Amino acid sequence: MAVIETYGISKIYNPGKVPVPALNGVNLTIEKGEFTAIVGPSGSGKTTLLNIIGGLDKPTGGKAVIQGTELGGLSDRELVDFRLHHIGFVFQSYNLIPVLTAIENVSFVMQMQGRPAKEYHQKSMALLKEVGLEDKIHKRPSELSGGQQQRVAVARALASKPDFVLADEPTANLDSVSTADLLDMMLELNKIEDMTFVFSTHDQRVIERARRVVTLVDGKIDKDEIRAA
Ligand SMILES: Nc1ncnc2c1ncn2[C@@H]1O[C@H](COP(=O)(O)OP(=O)(O)O)[C@@H](O)[C@H]1O
Ligand SMILES: [Mg+2]
Repeated sequence: MAVIETYGISKIYNPGKVPVPALNGVNLTIEKGEFTAIVGPSGSGKTTLLNIIGGLDKPTGGKAVIQGTELGGLSDRELVDFRLHHIGFVFQSYNLIPVLTAIENVSFVMQMQGRPAKEYHQKSMALLKEVGLEDKIHKRPSELSGGQQQRVAVARALASKPDFVLADEPTANLDSVSTADLLDMMLELNKIEDMTFVFSTHDQRVIERARRVVTLVDGKIDKDEIRAA
């Protein structure tokens, strides 16, 4: 079973007023273990597509199916729960909770899932070690570099044991060294844990390291290239 399937997804913002077409018939299937970049010029629909796949926004037409579940068939409450258990999110601007330490930020999702304290503490430690931050677990976001904050965000995304990690321009605010480090880490998690990553980017250095590159132009898939490993 594919992790992500979209069928004829379209999205028009402001339908009643001045309609802005953002997606126009996107059919995309992503299998477990992929490391796929969604690329394309600014305004081509990357964020809109990721938001719809992640159940953060609803399409105007078509459907998104995650691990066999059609998102459009879920109530708003069910969708919140579905996101919590199935999808890990990493955003461009880190989105960590400023008053919480690294380990508290990572634990937060598992607390919401109702897992026992001992379990989420251990799991958070293990995840922060995996992203190379075992010596920073008690630091708040303001005490960490952008690259370190984004590592915490990846650890947090993995904490829910998601079916896949969605990352919208995860390296947009990072320098080239932190960008390379973050990509190394994501590729390692992809290899070792078979974790599926889908990320948008317009950074050429990031595009070069993807295994599959899906190019959007004006809300449509223009190219879909698979790279040799
Ligand atoms: N909330 C919104 N309301 C109206 N138009 C939007 C909204 N979000 C995005 N758009 C428009 O939809 C199109 C696709 O945007 P987006 O998905 O953000 O593209 P990208 O992430 O590739 O830059 C653009 O024309 C953008 O201006
Ligand atoms: Mg965007």
